[in-house]
Amino acid sequence: MKQLLPDTGRRDLSADELWGAYGSVYDASHSAGGTDSGRGTLPRVVANMVTSLDGAATIRGRSGPLSSEADQYLFKLLRAQSDAVVVGAGTVAVERYRRVRLPGELAGRRKQAGLGSLPPLVVVSRLLALDFSTPPFTDPPDEAGGLIVVTTPSAPAEQMEAAAEVADRLIVADGPDFPADVTSALGEMGLERVLCEGGPRLLHSFLRSGLVSHVCLTVAPLLAGAQELSLLGPEALERPLRMDPVHLLEQAGWLFMLLRVSATDA
Ligand SMILES: NC(=O)c1ccc[n+]([C@@H]2O[C@H](COP(=O)([O-])OP(=O)(O)OC[C@H]3O[C@@H](n4cnc5c(N)ncnc54)[C@H](OP(=O)(O)O)[C@@H]3O)[C@@H](O)[C@H]2O)c1
Repeated sequence: MKQLLPDTGRRDLSADELWGAYGSVYDASHSAGGTDSGRGTLPRVVANMVTSLDGAATIRGRSGPLSSEADQYLFKLLRAQSDAVVVGAGTVAVERYRRVRLPGELAGRRKQAGLGSLPPLVVVSRLLALDFSTPPFTDPPDEAGGLIVVTTPSAPAEQMEAAAEVADRLIVADGPDFPADVTSALGEMGLERVLCEGGPRLLHSFLRSGLVSHVCLTVAPLLAGAQELSLLGPEALERPLRMDPVHLLEQAGWLFMLLRVSATDA
């Protein structure tokens, strides 16, 4: 066992070191992402989530109370390193999601790394029970990333029309594994660094489909008791998934874990 706390004199990471520590997840080799015989070339998918010590994904329905200043910085840093930010319909509605924007410092780093224009927000919904008269669908595109909506043929035609009007691209996927369809459609668009920001139900399905290579998990120093949603939503995974720690950072009591999804079950 190694002692991590109390602090034994380790210094804070610089902004350059943080950028490098998280950027490496998109390059590291792993069974998820890359070429898969049945699915063609899939992008690398990294998930970013925050949880309480007892596994709550929300407090009174929102994730904000679990976050911290450092968590917000990492949230944006991960966006700055991605080609696309994928989010489920539930989170878009509850968290009043917007198209992706970045603060100047991270936009500069992104530019320097040659990562191209801002990542599009990819809203994933099989049934499109979404209000297209609210953000992010009404966000002006200037100075923000694009907007992609991915759905299935089960969505009502009028909702598809509404989505097509506001999105830069509407993708209708009709394969047997919707999360894999989403990622392969993004891969075909050349979007190879995919960040999944949840929510719990969407993350559960991405993990179940074996698509996620790494999870960036912030653990807030809070007990929340029974809340509406736990980290992976209401359904159990068939088998526990082993997660191997890549690094563990700490700031003001918040823990920042970078975990690699193990190729084998626990
Ligand atoms: N702690 C965190 O880090 C964190 C992060 C994000 C959100 N949240 C919180 O989580 C809550 C929302 O999470 P949620 O789990 O209810 O919603 P969600 O995962 O954001 O979205 C679920 C919706 O996405 C659509 N979806 C598309 N493909 C799916 C698939 N393969 N599997 C499951 N759903 C799929 C479904 O809508 P269709 O039926 O239309 O397909 C489903 O209703 C909010 O309260 C938010 O504050 C917490």
